[in-house]
Amino acid sequence: MSFTPLFGQKIMYGADYNPEQWLEHDEGFATILDKDLAMMQQAHCNIMSVGIFSWAKIETSEGVFDFSWLDEVLDRLNEKGVKVFLATPSGARPHWLAKKYPEVLRVNERRERQLFGARHNHCMTSPMYREKVRIMNTKLAERYSHHPAVIGWHLSNEYGGQCHCPLCQAKFREWLQRKYGTIENLNKQWWNTFWSHSYDDWSEIESPSPIGENAVHALTLDWMRFSSDNALDFCKFERDTVKAVNPDLPVTANFMEFFNDYDYFTWAKELDFISWDAYPQWHNFADPDYIASYTAMNHDLMRSLKGGQPFVLMESTPSMTNWRPLSTLKRPKMNILSSLQAVAHGADSVQYFQWRKSRGSSEKFHGAIVDHVGHLDTRVGREVIDLGNKLEQIAEVAGTRADAKVAVVFDTPNRWAINDSQGPRNKGMDYLPLCLDYYRVFFKRGISVDVIDETCDLSKYQLVIAPMTYMMRDGYADRVRKFVDAGGTYLSTYWSGVVNETDLCFLGGFPSGIKDVMGIWEEEIDSLDENQIVPVRLEPQGLERGFKSDSYYGTQLFGLVHPDDNTEVLLSYNDQFYQGMPVLTRHPYGKGLAYYVASRMDPNFVDSLAQMIVEELQLKNAFNEPAMPFREGVSAAARVNDKYRYVFLSNYSDRDQMVKLNSVYEDLLAENGEPREVSGIVYLKPYDARVFRHAL
Ligand code: GLA
Ligand code: ZN
Repeated sequence: MSFTPLFGQKIMYGADYNPEQWLEHDEGFATILDKDLAMMQQAHCNIMSVGIFSWAKIETSEGVFDFSWLDEVLDRLNEKGVKVFLATPSGARPHWLAKKYPEVLRVNERRERQLFGARHNHCMTSPMYREKVRIMNTKLAERYSHHPAVIGWHLSNEYGGQCHCPLCQAKFREWLQRKYGTIENLNKQWWNTFWSHSYDDWSEIESPSPIGENAVHALTLDWMRFSSDNALDFCKFERDTVKAVNPDLPVTANFMEFFNDYDYFTWAKELDFISWDAYPQWHNFADPDYIASYTAMNHDLMRSLKGGQPFVLMESTPSMTNWRPLSTLKRPKMNILSSLQAVAHGADSVQYFQWRKSRGSSEKFHGAIVDHVGHLDTRVGREVIDLGNKLEQIAEVAGTRADAKVAVVFDTPNRWAINDSQGPRNKGMDYLPLCLDYYRVFFKRGISVDVIDETCDLSKYQLVIAPMTYMMRDGYADRVRKFVDAGGTYLSTYWSGVVNETDLCFLGGFPSGIKDVMGIWEEEIDSLDENQIVPVRLEPQGLERGFKSDSYYGTQLFGLVHPDDNTEVLLSYNDQFYQGMPVLTRHPYGKGLAYYVASRMDPNFVDSLAQMIVEELQLKNAFNEPAMPFREGVSAAARVNDKYRYVFLSNYSDRDQMVKLNSVYEDLLAENGEPREVSGIVYLKPYDARVFRHAL
């Protein structure tokens, strides 16, 4: 089984196209358009996202619409066979709208209403904003949702943030009322007797604020949930305005890097396909595997949001960003490598921000395909063309799947709760970095990993790694129990099973709900500075299970754990008053196994643990061979269908590398465009990316 390719048997290739910025250009709009279209052909582009920030050029004043330029752009793109994701322009609004209806302006947590400016800063509750968006979207849909070029909707742009205006406060209170029924129940679930903070009436509830309530963790958590739901409600509203005209045209909303504002797993259910904007900080870290694995994990999260369905890389830069601390140029070939990494991890498209570099304002120095020089005979342009060719050579990959047997749980509400709780380490709990520690060792072995949350089905995996599941969401403990009972291997860490969904601590010992599955209980947790390490001792059972060294150590957080009688202790602390208490335990439960890691362990430990589990479960790598770590900077990822396995082999380092193939493959990116046989040693130059095919 595979997925139906999102847009036909091809990898989509293109960019955000903002021709409205060039309408008044001296050369004339028609000339710019002609040149753009010719260069799009030259670059093998087949998709453009159009109209993202063009509200003011479409509705020039209230109720006055001008579609002439957009008609021309879409028709001309269509003539050249370039498809379009048509955007709704709600990501930024025109001056006239804010001037006449100030309620559309967002209010911050200090209760200050923002002036006009920037973007992504409207109130998503405002009936007036919704009405203006409805009118706009309906007109766009009526005019273009059956246009032959248009293959999908790009809803708004990078939905984000929160609004604390009176309209949003009222909606928040209604949301709470639906959730808790009575104010007494809310008081109870939020532990409001503390500091005499009980509410007598719904109207007393205010969103968290630095000048008001900011320490009731359940309030903050519900505010995050509400803000996510409210923005999603706005997104669904936009979706419904366009679907009312043509229900068959698929919709997406472009997501962002490990975004903390919203819970994307709830969003994913409402969208037809997932897309996201990836801007990895290549070349800024000494360790090439760090940023490669961080980015891969983000891609895998996007793929997992809709159960493995291929996603769209909606934005990336062909050269540099201009909003990171450093605007580092992608080194030669890095754009190809970075783009093929997205495809390797499940993208059916590669798109850039943006087609033509702006002349003015805040993105005039952001990378683009067409630089200020105005042609593609540039280092970046040539690489963009080269990649366009390559994506055509691997068109058959579209629609293939990743087939992960391993999942890492990275849960957004859990992340909110961990980061807001006071203690045990206000200096930083490092939830995402901890998840990455564990993701990375599988990435390094070329093992496919899904990145899921606590609501997802666990039964399709052999191994589930769930670092710091501080908040046990309703039903999760049961799913873990069933998973392990049925033969799954579950790995959990310190600070798990501590609170429920309203941040009330579980009584009766942690990790609540799964203590018997894990075969331990955690009594206390100690927190130290990064430079304070606690060494570990190798226990005989650890040696028997294949651990060779006792040079491992823990940092940051140290769970003080008691093992049950039938729990093996593989490693224990070798310092502090908790010397001798377990660091790593292994517990059989039903047909499965549960591992518990009591501290933030050093990278060598995580790597050794991964290798032990990989061997125990006989997990295979992208080549379908026993998995071992690739050399520093090298990794592999696979996509499969019923006929073929496609292996993407990458060198993220600036050094020459070698990888030995144990079977014969076909190299799909051979120079002359024809697949070529390859076997034995493969030599990889710095930033080389190869795509191999193997018949099943
Ligand atoms: C975001 C936005 C784009 C652009 C890029 C620049 O992803 O969606 O409009 O601003 O950032 O990197
Ligand atoms: Zn508001």
